[in-house]
Amino acid sequence: MNEFSEVAPFMPDPFRILWREKVSSTNDELQKLAESGMGEGLILISEEQTAGRGRRGAEWFCGKGDGLAFSVLLKPVAAKAFWYRLALTAGLAVAEALESYVPLAEIKWPNDVLVNNKKIAGILVEAGSSYVVLGIGINVNTMNFPDGLNATSLGKESGNQVSRADVLLKIVQRLGNYVNRIESDFESILEGIRERCAMVDCEVTMKSAGNQKNGILRGIGNEGELLLDVKGKIERIYQADELRLVEI
Ligand code: BTN
Repeated sequence: MNEFSEVAPFMPDPFRILWREKVSSTNDELQKLAESGMGEGLILISEEQTAGRGRRGAEWFCGKGDGLAFSVLLKPVAAKAFWYRLALTAGLAVAEALESYVPLAEIKWPNDVLVNNKKIAGILVEAGSSYVVLGIGINVNTMNFPDGLNATSLGKESGNQVSRADVLLKIVQRLGNYVNRIESDFESILEGIRERCAMVDCEVTMKSAGNQKNGILRGIGNEGELLLDVKGKIERIYQADELRLVEI
């Protein structure tokens, strides 16, 4: 028994929880389980990750017992060409769930979640040939962060201790609802993302390996791409692993 057992009965079908004290990375472990034939909906939560990973190879810091680190195994019915939409969709599910505790959670394209301009959650999406692993890290009750990290937590922002199990349930309920709509109804998902899109009308830099482009962020296009106004001309920036959006 642990705190997550309380919410297990309320998980929507097909989601179910597998809890571990310590793993290298929940994404890595869940990919192994997926390769061994595990079915859709498995959620691997770990109290501690020895090699938790972020996007672009960054390390992921997660306060033991305070943070929430988990990965969700999906086998989307949508055609593979639409799987890239899951990163944005997961960002929306997380942002909406966090708004049960804080007034507004913004999405920094493609899928960082910010509260008061500080990072509160990160998402790492990795796909195999027949499955997708959504890795989600959330600062729930973390009060202290390593120097130089522009981060916050639900506990800090709300002034209350927040139940990690409730946060998990709220995210999974939303994911369950959105995942089947990425092909047929992405428009309604985009609506939620646009309402929460961070840095709109701000000057930003798009950084990628050895390259950078300045412009004004104008919003999100119909395919989930970023609309960057470069000297009056809209350029469409599509998701790529190495891309990094920075406010100037
Ligand atoms: C990012 O912001 O760069 C993404 C961070 C993703 C972190 C989560 S924690 C659970 C899962 N396991 C990992 O190794 N990474 C993701």
